Order: sequence, then C-alpha cells, then structure tokens
Amino acid sequence: MTESLKIGLLGHGTVGGAFDELVGGRKEAIESAIGRPAVISGVLTTSIGDFDEILAASDVIVELMGGTDTARDHVLASLRAGKPVITANKQLLAQHGAELFAVASESGVQLRFEAAIAAVVPVVRVVQESFGAVEFTKVSGIVNGTTNFILSEMAATGASYEDTLARAQELGYAEADPTDDVNGADAAAKMAILARLAFHTPVTLDQVDFEGIESVQPDDLAYAKELGLSLKLLGVAERLADGITVRVFPCFLYGGHPLSPIEGPFNAVTVEAPEITEVTISGPGAGGVQTASAVLGDLVSVVTGDAPTHKVQNDLPVLTDVTSSFYLHLEVADEPGVLAQVAKVLSDGGVSVKSVVQKGMGDDARLVMVVHRCLESKFKSAIEEIGRLDSLRSAPRFIRVIEEEFV
Ligand SMILES: NC(=O)c1ccc[n+]([C@@H]2O[C@H](COP(=O)([O-])OP(=O)(O)OC[C@H]3O[C@@H](n4cnc5c(N)ncnc54)[C@H](OP(=O)(O)O)[C@@H]3O)[C@@H](O)[C@H]2O)c1
Repeated sequence: MTESLKIGLLGHGTVGGAFDELVGGRKEAIESAIGRPAVISGVLTTSIGDFDEILAASDVIVELMGGTDTARDHVLASLRAGKPVITANKQLLAQHGAELFAVASESGVQLRFEAAIAAVVPVVRVVQESFGAVEFTKVSGIVNGTTNFILSEMAATGASYEDTLARAQELGYAEADPTDDVNGADAAAKMAILARLAFHTPVTLDQVDFEGIESVQPDDLAYAKELGLSLKLLGVAERLADGITVRVFPCFLYGGHPLSPIEGPFNAVTVEAPEITEVTISGPGAGGVQTASAVLGDLVSVVTGDAPTHKVQNDLPVLTDVTSSFYLHLEVADEPGVLAQVAKVLSDGGVSVKSVVQKGMGDDARLVMVVHRCLESKFKSAIEEIGRLDSLRSAPRFIRVIEEEFV
C-alpha cells in the first residue's frame, strides 16, 4: 500500500480549520493530484499538540498560526529538519523572508507561500513560475480586501469612512482592530514580498512607504466620479532607470485601468513586462476555505514540483522620490484671482495642471484639479506653499492618480 503524505498542521483557526476540512473532504482529488493519500498527522494550537512530536511525525509542515516569533522558530526548525513548509503568513515572510529562504535553500527543501499575498489569487505562482524568466517592469495590485471593500462601499453609498468601516466590521470584512489593514501596513508587507520576487532584489519592510485610507472623504469619491476615476488602495512595485520603488497608497485610476473594476473584498494583481504586455488576475482576497484552497495548491506543488529558486541576484536601490500624477482638492475663498494664485504656485513649482473643476459653496469655492506627473517632492513643496495662501479655507487634500494607458 502507498504510504500517506503526513501533514503537520500548525494552527487550527479560520484557515487551519478550513484546510483540515479540505484535506478530509477532498481525499480522492488530493490522492489523484499527488499520487498518494494525505493525512493530517498532528495539529498544534495554543491548547493542543507538541511541536517536536508533530515535526517528527510529518513529511510536510503547514504553518497557519500567524505571528512572527513562534511561527519563525517552528518554520526554521522544520526547514532545518529537511521538511518542506507551506505558510500563509505575510508578516513572517516580510520580516524574516531572507533568513527563511536561505535556510530552505541550504536544506534543499521547499518553502511555499501562495496564500500569503492575495489569498486564493495565484500571484506568487504567476510571478515566480509562470513568468519566472520575464523582466517585470511593474507589479501593482489591490492586495487588501478590507480597504477595497470600504472604498467600493463609500463610492457606492456616499457614506463616511467611519460608518463604512463599522459596516465592514459588522459584515466580517474588517477585523475588530483594523489598523494594519486601513493604514496600508498589511499591503506593504505583501508588496515587500512581491517586489523581492519580481525584481530579485532584497526589499525589507521598512523600505516600503505606505499610506492608508483613513483620511479619504466621501466628496473625494464624488468628484472622482465626475472625473471618471475610481479610488483604490494600490501596492505598486516598479522598476525605474535608477532602481525600484515599492509603495502603498490610495490612488485614483482611470476607467481603462485593469484594476479599476475590482470591487468589494476582492484582490487583483497586474504584472507588466514588455514580453507579456500586461496580465491581471483577481479573486477573493481572504476567507477560510479560499485561503485554505491556495494552501492545498501549494501542497500539491510541494509534492509534484521542483522548488522555484529565490535568487536575489540584484541589489537595486529602493527609491522614494519618484514621479506621480495627483488629484488635488482645495477649499478656498470664492474671490476673483484665487484660481490664478493657485495655478501660479503650481506652475512656479514645476507642476502643470491637467484638469480643473470649480464649484461655489456660498462664500467659499472648491477647486478640484488633476496635475500631470511630476516629482513628488516638487508637488509637496508646492502644496506647502498653497497651504500658506490666505485664501485657503482648510488644509489641501491630495491623492495620487495613475494615468497610464492600458491596451
Ligand atoms: N483569515 C484569512 O482570510 C487569511 C487570508 C490570508 C492569509 N491568512 C494568514 O493565515 C494565517 C492564519 O490566519 P487565521 O485567520 O486562520 O488565524 P486564526 O483564526 O487566529 O487562527 C490561528 C491558529 O493558530 C493557533 N496559534 C496562534 N498562535 C499560536 C502559538 N503561539 N502556538 C500554537 N498555536 C498558535 C491558534 O490557536 P488557538 O486555536 O488555540 O487560538 C489558532 O488555532 C495568518 O498568518 C494569516 O495572516 C489568513
């Protein structure tokens, strides 16, 4: 009789529990995919199981605990013991990826992590394997479902950020403590991993600049509609002439952008390279059974495939002052000459205006502009100067715009 593949399961929560059920419920399909039966040989939670015993009794370790301390120790011990590891833990990889990949390589075992970036959306496989020999110019994505749900809802209902966040929490799309999702930190961890894979260069979490969606106002979304734009929290990793940039920021997209139609708690990633033009994949960005399905896919790859290489052969600088186009929202006194004053500050600062919408509001007016691509440092200096104009009624608000044309 063929010997079963023994899986040591670390963590039995939302994803671990769903993975256990999938392994039990899909016995025949798994056996057909990997050529032998698979069984869960041991489970570790905070109340059950002993890690050393589970490790000794397993052929492969599936880490679905979360956290970076115990998870790191257990993953390292598993790899050193020559056992392949599958994890869905983005923080672990973003903080300790270099060490973990090095130990996996020394030990000659696989470390797979498809579910860590966009849950069920197979972006790791696409970047590392499908297009493993392509020179990517850009990898951009909606890699946080909570923020995409909130922005989609705000655009559809006109409700405030606070009310929409509360609704997302009621519906289970946002955690009780949503900080890392809404401030962009979760997406930053994912983009650090993706940038490393795409550009074969070390990227640490502290090199990823991130901004969240907490200060987005309903009227930003209303004006965006008038300008034909949609608002997303984007992670962008881009190859530039002098290095790379890896950032997370709320961003307006034109209707033709492939990430523009992605609504609700979905994730999507667009990869670009001259040889492939552009490819976008999308799907649910979280959920127990969805994430567990990606983990199961990694299990099949661990048994049937070779380890993709994690070569970090480049050492590209991570640049922070790059060019962007911006949406700018100003509340000013409704007096003659104010628009000209603002336009002069922008033009003196080397910032050129693409479009303007002006609306009266009693004694005040709103100026909503889109400015052409310019160095971010130039734009921010101009905004500081605009902030000092007497005619300004509240602090300027700005959001990046991606103007790129897609085929
Ligand atoms: N949920 C999603 O939709 C999703 C999507 C993509 C990726 N992920 C990733 O998947 C991983 C698991 O997430 P989850 O939502 O399933 O978490 P969860 O529901 O909180 O479950 C965590 C499990 O790990 C166990 N655990 C935690 N710390 C432990 C420790 N120090 N020692 C032993 N066991 C420990 C917990 O034990 P107890 O049962 O005793 O509490 C629980 O069984 C995380 O890395 C997460 O980022 C989740």
